[in-house]
Amino acid sequence: SVYNNQHEASVAVANKIADLIRSKQAKGEKAVLGLATGVTPIGVYTELVRLHKEAGLSFKNVITFNLDEYYPMKPTAAQSYVTFMYDNLFSHIDIEKDNINIPDGTLDKDEVVAFCLAYEKKIEELGGLDLQILGIGRTGHIGFNEPGSAPNSGTRMVTLDDLTRRDAARDFGGKADVPTKAITMGIGTIFKAREIILMAWNKKKAQIIKKAVEGEISGDVPATYLQLSQHVEFVLDADAASEL
Ligand code: GLP
Repeated sequence: SVYNNQHEASVAVANKIADLIRSKQAKGEKAVLGLATGVTPIGVYTELVRLHKEAGLSFKNVITFNLDEYYPMKPTAAQSYVTFMYDNLFSHIDIEKDNINIPDGTLDKDEVVAFCLAYEKKIEELGGLDLQILGIGRTGHIGFNEPGSAPNSGTRMVTLDDLTRRDAARDFGGKADVPTKAITMGIGTIFKAREIILMAWNKKKAQIIKKAVEGEISGDVPATYLQLSQHVEFVLDADAASEL
């Protein structure tokens, strides 16, 4: 769907998430959400916080799994995705701390594989992700699944693309300080979600959105794999949709 502006689009996505949470609540069930970081989903989180404060939306029955985290990364660092999620969402809602899952950037190298397998297993044991929200990087990455990622990939350690590190340089005060690695859910992990929403705003994303939506399906642009799923919605503003 294409919206006039990112605010309208963000409100629509937040309402969809709120509806899911409420319908699960009504059945006495948990809602299992896959969450994303970056500038793109901030408006969704702002609206969810507003719905919590002003419309009584509770997150007590919500379990979250974040897509990714830089590696290595201390959770307390300003650039960590832990800090991002608490600042933009978790600190402002009534979610239980134990229900928050974010890849751990503090692991020793030899602990990473076991952690990643446990992350996958935990999602599975909860019945899978009800909804995964995504942004898109200019390399066409989703999560941190850079070009070359396999369509059936699981949660794992990856090496970040040069363009991705350049785009992140602003947050780290220079590219040299951007970690070279990350832990990310895989394309396969994302695909198993019952519903996927990819959001993109602004002219800066128009070109990669054109490739993701209309381009040949290929590992060169990992987001093109989403064309193979029946459960994906692209939520765009007019600028991001301008090349379609
Ligand atoms: C990072 C994140 C992605 C995100 C992308 C785009 O690389 N790991 O999940 O989609 O950035 O970020 P932004 O929304 O700031 O453009």
